[in-house]
Amino acid sequence: MRLFLDTADIKQIRDAVKLGVISGVTTNPSLVSKAGWPGDYKSAVQEICSLVKGPVSVEVLSVEPEAMIEEARSIATWSPHVNVKIPVCAAGLEAISVLSKENIKVNLTLCFSLNQALLGALAGATYVSPFVGRLDDVGQDGMELVAQIVQCFDRYRLPTQVIAASIRHPMHCVTAAEVGAHIATVPYSVLMQMVNHPLTTVGIARFLEDSKKTTGKG
Ligand code: E4P
Repeated sequence: MRLFLDTADIKQIRDAVKLGVISGVTTNPSLVSKAGWPGDYKSAVQEICSLVKGPVSVEVLSVEPEAMIEEARSIATWSPHVNVKIPVCAAGLEAISVLSKENIKVNLTLCFSLNQALLGALAGATYVSPFVGRLDDVGQDGMELVAQIVQCFDRYRLPTQVIAASIRHPMHCVTAAEVGAHIATVPYSVLMQMVNHPLTTVGIARFLEDSKKTTGKG
């Protein structure tokens, strides 16, 4: 399973990339607004692309199919790494079916059901993003949906990759890996939680202490 970083915060992206474990980034309008980007959206995306050199998802804001297609075509010129995020809806599927024939990679976003994922795959989306945390929030098992989509795409040999999105904690990542998600897109805080374990922290401190006894330092 690959890991993408789910943020629009350049500092977080810079810090995470240094670890060598991040192969892409997903952004959305809420993350962009939280990161407080100034007006120049394109330059910020290009900066992210220069740091990550993997798929970077940027969401379209248009709602009509023709406008979505035009916006997606324009976003796709920003960098060879850019993927276009399109929400599940009739207009979105229409746009995806046109864009996929132009080799523009689309990440189907706001996916909450197997049917939506299947439609996205059939329309030609490169990725589908089931939103696990938001489903959990309304009392539905989000990871169960990820598992269903992975099984269905496997069974019918659909090439679309599954991104476990809306990840809230490290156990989501564990389960995403167990059920065979191709990618999990994680907030920076969750990435750090994945790194840390209290026994590792204690173990490092103890080794340092003991090494001082051996070397006679400290
Ligand atoms: C994924 O591509 C989305 O940006 C993201 O995972 C949404 O997560 P949220 O439910 O925490 O907003």
